[in-house]
Amino acid sequence: MRKLLLGLMVTSSLVLAEGYKQGDRILDMQKMAQAMQDIQSGFFYNNADIVNAGVKNLKETIIKIRPIDSEVNNKDIYEKWLNNNMKMTNKIQKKIKRRAEDIEERFSDGDAVQALQAYSKISSQCMKCHINLRKW
Ligand code: HEC
Repeated sequence: MRKLLLGLMVTSSLVLAEGYKQGDRILDMQKMAQAMQDIQSGFFYNNADIVNAGVKNLKETIIKIRPIDSEVNNKDIYEKWLNNNMKMTNKIQKKIKRRAEDIEERFSDGDAVQALQAYSKISSQCMKCHINLRKW
């Protein structure tokens, strides 16, 4: 019984450490793209509920983004590159989260101009990863 439990514990911690696949990341990206569209619709329809729902989805999803298993398991020369990659990813994630909070605050305060500015800063963070980190 103890062995079985131990085995289960080991397996579940392995699952926690891994298990982020390309398909998961694509889904997360699509969720974020949808969240950005929702926020924009909220601006245009002047609807804070729609803005806040988009902000919530964006904040929940951006923290999940990380290198996928096949990138993590690539042991050789990629390791150094991968570290940089994680550092940059963490930085971008923090910025996007902070700007998303700005949007919620500013828009509820009636400051749509500042909210829009925060929105465009988020877009440029998305593109920063797509262009710089991913060389798209
Ligand atoms: C840390 C890097 C990173 C950040 C930050 C990032 N992306 Fe991505 N994005 C990727 C990668 C990598 C892919 C390619 C996924 C694949 O095909 O494996 C991708 C793909 C996409 C796609 C295409 C998905 C598809 O259906 O093929 C969309 C849409 C997208 N991202 C939107 C966003 C939005 C919106 C943001 C910001 C809120 C964002 N991304 C931030 C790395 C990032």
